[in-house]
Amino acid sequence: MTSHVRTAIFPVAGLGTRFLPATKATPKELLPVLDTPLIQYAIDEARDAGVERMIFVSHPAKQAIERHVMDDARLRATLTARGKEDLAEELAEHALCPVQDDVVFVMQEEPLGLGHAVLCARDHALPGPVAVLLPDDLILGPPGALSEMIAAYDPDSAGHMVATMEVAAEDTRKYGILSVTGRDGRRLIADGMVEKPSPTDAPSRDAVVGRYVLDHSIFEALATQAPGAGGEIQLTDAIARGVSRVGLVGFRYSGRRFDCGSKVGMLAATLELASHDPDCAALLREMGLSTDAPRAA
Ligand code: G1P
Repeated sequence: MTSHVRTAIFPVAGLGTRFLPATKATPKELLPVLDTPLIQYAIDEARDAGVERMIFVSHPAKQAIERHVMDDARLRATLTARGKEDLAEELAEHALCPVQDDVVFVMQEEPLGLGHAVLCARDHALPGPVAVLLPDDLILGPPGALSEMIAAYDPDSAGHMVATMEVAAEDTRKYGILSVTGRDGRRLIADGMVEKPSPTDAPSRDAVVGRYVLDHSIFEALATQAPGAGGEIQLTDAIARGVSRVGLVGFRYSGRRFDCGSKVGMLAATLELASHDPDCAALLREMGLSTDAPRAA
């Protein structure tokens, strides 16, 4: 059995109701964080981590994601003809190309839950463990969170690995929460996981963030998973069911995580990126905000 993580799954079928009306015509994943669509950060993170196949679990109303993700040779040719080679090259660098990259789009027509979304990718997943990236969770490195996780992944001790961070007690109901039995540096040994428990029911304050490296058996577990919290097929429940067989570990990544599923998180991520961007330095200083970008000469 290979332990090499060859597949990354991006669940992007959600209708982004929290961002309406901004998401009426534009998928949430394409809203810019500073100057780059949200989903691009997760794609670049997966690419840096060396995955071979990317599977996007999308929705028919969100075809714009496919247009963003895939290379557009005609647009590049137009830019080149207008002397904008730099822009054309930048587009080529970010886009996925059907010839070189292994990219699959599958549709999740109904919002049956994150677990169901991952299950939709089953037939396209390559052998071995799979990575799942939730683009809403923007984790700024370097190093990339998925690269760190893959480097630390050891299927002999735990087949399921989830990114984790500590949250305030009142926030446990927003996350999957680990039942932690031991701590070993950045690894949290766990014997279970609960989806969005109340603070009184939460087994810890160690919350799951949207990066997973999962044993391939997750698909079998999901195929027979009964609906859980919110009436949805929960990825958390299927992971929890596999713990006794494959093991579970939480991993504390070193980057900074932003919840881009919320307005405040989007703004925080934008400001963080702007604070390192020379083009934004003058404006941030004028607004009394800090920046580490150098002053213009
Ligand atoms: C999902 C997962 C949850 C996890 C969270 C991380 O919830 O179900 O376990 O903690 O992502 O962002 P969602 O935020 O999609 O409701």
